[in-house]
Amino acid sequence: MSHSTLATTVFSGVPRTLLLTTRARVDEHQRPHGILHDPMIAEWWPALTWDPALDGLYQPLGQLGWALRAHVFDEIVQRHLAVRSQAVVVELGAGLSTRYYRVGQQSHAWLELDLPPVIHLRHQLEAESDRYRLIPCSVVDWNWMDEVPECPPESVLILAEGLLMYLGPDEVQALITQLKQRFAGATLVFDAVGGLTRGRTAKQLASVDAPLKWFVNHERDLTAMGLTVVEARSLIQEMCRYRDRIGGFRWVPWLSKLPPFRNASLLIESRV
Ligand SMILES: C[S@@+](CC[C@H](N)C(=O)[O-])C[C@H]1O[C@@H](n2cnc3c(N)ncnc32)[C@H](O)[C@@H]1O
Repeated sequence: MSHSTLATTVFSGVPRTLLLTTRARVDEHQRPHGILHDPMIAEWWPALTWDPALDGLYQPLGQLGWALRAHVFDEIVQRHLAVRSQAVVVELGAGLSTRYYRVGQQSHAWLELDLPPVIHLRHQLEAESDRYRLIPCSVVDWNWMDEVPECPPESVLILAEGLLMYLGPDEVQALITQLKQRFAGATLVFDAVGGLTRGRTAKQLASVDAPLKWFVNHERDLTAMGLTVVEARSLIQEMCRYRDRIGGFRWVPWLSKLPPFRNASLLIESRV
């Protein structure tokens, strides 16, 4: 598909943040020995327009974190696909995720959901198929759940990467409750912010009209919301494995064990 005539899409609010995570994957793809290989996003990127209002948020540590988060989610998808021959994957708040092209093509069905302007842009970049669908819908409009093909709930893998922190706590709880009603036994993978992220990062995001609204201080708090946590990983601790990319942190990696650092961003695999 040629993208040369793609009209510039100007996003605001939370949709604009997709440029941060998209750029992080482009840069990671272009790095020698990068964590991610993502030729599709490199192909799309020249058709997109960077928003300078995001310059202050796009720093090397953030870039590493977003790329690594995408990689961890990829690994979970690969694990799921390896044991579920009829796997159905749903990416909520997908942005310009190219995960399907990286690791998803052996899924039985793959759904990408985002708000209508984002899906409109995606329609200009890629084609749908019977098994690969783009759904223009808010995650809190439960109608999207009707689009998920009939299958055993254990086959359903729902991903919410960089999304839930932008919803209000009541919306997150309502979403979990709905997921439990519709897909009990499915896997929900998401990231949650807390700890240090409540400070400077939250202020910076608020200044670009993308305020963080839902914070989680520890994965044990998720049980009360109805989730069974299968695994929780600290993104900061994962980042510390890349010593040459974490600046001054490399001299004080133990800091990542302290709750404000450990819980700044948690990657959660859970059962609904
Ligand atoms: C930080 S971006 C993450 C995009 C992608 N998941 C990634 O990691 O690259 C947040 C995304 O959530 C989407 N989003 C925000 N609110 C939403 C809602 N109520 N329903 C669906 N998508 C939403 C935005 O449009 C945006 O694409």
